[in-house]
Amino acid sequence: MTVESMKPTTPKTPGPSEPPLAGGGLPLLGHGWKLVRDPLAFLARLREHGDVVRLRLGPKTVYAVTSPELTGALALSPDYIISGPLWESLESLLGKEGVATANGPLHRRQRRTIQPAFRLDAIPGYGPIMEEEAHALVDRFRGAEVVDVTAEAFRVSVRISARCLMRGSYMDARSERITSALATLFAGMYQRMVVPLGPLYRVPIPANREFNRALADLHRLVDEIVADRRASGQKPDDLLTALLEAVDENGDPIGEQEIHDQVIAILTPGSETAGSVVMSLLNVLTEHPDQVDKIREEVKNVVGDRPVAFDDVRKLQHTANVVVETMRLYPAVWILTRRAVTETELGGYRIPAGADIVYSPYAVQRDPRSYERHTEFAPDRWLPGGSARVPKYAMAPFGVGNRKCPSDHFSMAELTLITAVLASAFRFEPAPGSDNRTHIGITLRPRRLRLRAIPG
Ligand code: HEM
Repeated sequence: MTVESMKPTTPKTPGPSEPPLAGGGLPLLGHGWKLVRDPLAFLARLREHGDVVRLRLGPKTVYAVTSPELTGALALSPDYIISGPLWESLESLLGKEGVATANGPLHRRQRRTIQPAFRLDAIPGYGPIMEEEAHALVDRFRGAEVVDVTAEAFRVSVRISARCLMRGSYMDARSERITSALATLFAGMYQRMVVPLGPLYRVPIPANREFNRALADLHRLVDEIVADRRASGQKPDDLLTALLEAVDENGDPIGEQEIHDQVIAILTPGSETAGSVVMSLLNVLTEHPDQVDKIREEVKNVVGDRPVAFDDVRKLQHTANVVVETMRLYPAVWILTRRAVTETELGGYRIPAGADIVYSPYAVQRDPRSYERHTEFAPDRWLPGGSARVPKYAMAPFGVGNRKCPSDHFSMAELTLITAVLASAFRFEPAPGSDNRTHIGITLRPRRLRLRAIPG
């Protein structure tokens, strides 16, 4: 032994380590094939490999976060932003200057502009429109031998968002055009996001032509809505007025492109998500007729024999719990992504700068460590006392932190009202050709629900 080797050495503090690699990857393809083949099962099983795991998607390493606590930490940390390949494809279709894809000071300013329209105290102002649309939905169901739930769910959610947030009689006809454009876009957008084939989507085959026509129509519609509102000279107290009067950090009016992209960024995610939850709710009411009975009983106790009104919604506790439990098991937003802006740490693991990170509200909200009888539809778990046992961030269908959906109160009011009104009027049975298996696209929803709405 030399004197040199006896010298005390300063112990090196170990830096954060690399997260474990998830099992089951294939040479070359990595985990990509599993993510494409059965994404929900794959994402749910990742928790068995750790709270943070590495995935190989072809040559790329992507990080996945699986525990509620760390998904909260990720969503709340300024070290992670909205960026990455999925968001870039979305921007190329819907525009770069909207709130859903902006970051930093621009995002903060845009949130300040839109937030007042979604504040809790603003929601009762939307009551009459929500009520009118929910009862119109009942009339359409009554008139249909078989209800095409996909079409009707998108219709009601587009009409409510568009008419509440951009008031004006001109929205009536426009809501129908927006519904039809968005239905086509949602069908093709997911494929364009996960399989970005660029110029191949411009090849004039019928599917591409239809998609591109719908995209052009949506952009044209938004221009028409803005032009009509300006021409009317009216400034109702709504989101569109807030957008038209918004100023940038220098106090100058925001540009036309930003106004346009903002309208799209608010209408598009809102309609797809709320529409998907309406579909999942109808599937739940079909599969759980006992829940239809319980909702009816609650409505009868609270409302009596008159039609359900918007003001009743806050008293319909069980109905709201059915909505929440539906969003737990079938969260419309089933996957979220972020990008690390700097080298950082999550759960003691090193996350390199530029890394893409994914997490799944679907997996987190079905984690047996957070929920007893985790796959069972049990709305009573949300009764006071029960919900307190759910770990923080284990239930976040609207997201967490500065990107949390601005429309959480708006959507809960809309969905609770629709559920109460539909369950009071009908019982539901699947019609021939109905397929309630899960459809995985930009959102998660039943594939093709066709129902008989039986009055009484
Ligand atoms: C963001 C869910 C309805 C507008 C989000 C996010 C989630 C979400 C999870 C966060 C994404 C992230 O963290 O990256 C839902 C669900 C809805 C719903 C489950 C219905 C049940 C709506 C409606 C509107 C809307 C009706 C508008 C009319 C937005 C906007 C953002 C957003 C503008 C982007 C916020 C930002 O990045 O700052 N939504 N949403 N959502 N949602 Fe919703």
